[in-house]
Amino acid sequence: MDKDRLKGKRALVTGAASGIGRATSLRLAAEGASVFCCDIVAAGVEETVSMITAEGGRAASGTVDVSKLDSCEAVVAAAGRFLGGLDILANVAGILRPGHTDKQDPKLFDQTIAINLSGTYYMCRSALPLLLDGGGAIVNIASVAAMQGVPYNAAYGASKAGVVGLTQALAAEYAKRGVRVNCVCPGGVLTPMTLGGFNVENLDASLMARIAPLVPRVGKPEEIAGVVAFLASEEAAYVTGSAYRIDGGQTC
Ligand SMILES: NC(=O)c1ccc[n+]([C@@H]2O[C@H](COP(=O)([O-])OP(=O)(O)OC[C@H]3O[C@@H](n4cnc5c(N)ncnc54)[C@H](O)[C@@H]3O)[C@@H](O)[C@H]2O)c1
Repeated sequence: MDKDRLKGKRALVTGAASGIGRATSLRLAAEGASVFCCDIVAAGVEETVSMITAEGGRAASGTVDVSKLDSCEAVVAAAGRFLGGLDILANVAGILRPGHTDKQDPKLFDQTIAINLSGTYYMCRSALPLLLDGGGAIVNIASVAAMQGVPYNAAYGASKAGVVGLTQALAAEYAKRGVRVNCVCPGGVLTPMTLGGFNVENLDASLMARIAPLVPRVGKPEEIAGVVAFLASEEAAYVTGSAYRIDGGQTC
């Protein structure tokens, strides 16, 4: 790891209270960025900030509900004030609400789209004016569920396929204006989101065989954070519009 790769960069991370968002916040800070960490869970995000400052990094926290545009606008404004601008936006916040599609409450579909897809769009929309002022990078967290059917996850797959489409559209629209937009597509990563498995009643285990990775283990949040840091850095200056698979070979 290059401790100076992101020196002087100003980053905003959503979903920073936990899992991949926390690991991303720590990694960006460890590479020299100042980080504004936000989440809907205040206590967790404050803990992430304490972990960064304990290592000598610079960070502050804020709360946000990414499914609300006004909340996203407010947190971007707070981040801009703390950081004095913005170079990097990492959209990590997300939810997973698995279930049998023919029985599940359709409200869970709407909620998943609202947080995972509309939330990513609202954050990009709110942060673009700051990112366009000097150039910058957006890294969205999609999923292998965007490119492979994952049983019991219709809403999740739809939301993450949407994130890939959103990423590509924004990359095309803003490349000439100095903003790169990429996403990562993790496979299974051990975080609070996945700790209990899918926890779906009467799950047909034979349907799950197709989503096994070739590397016989789940991923670590730090392994996702490392790729996010690369995509956010100048080393990825020629990378935009990509959907970068980090899945132990699951979808190859
Ligand atoms: N863990 C995996 O296997 C895996 C695989 C592929 C993609 N992902 C994606 O990675 C991202 C992070 O997931 P994770 O595994 O770290 O899970 P996690 O549950 O540990 O973290 C998700 C974070 O998002 C926050 N959040 C939820 N709703 C929010 C809202 N409305 N506004 C703001 N914050 C909100 C949560 O409070 C939590 O801190 C998600 O987008 C997830 O879909 C995870």
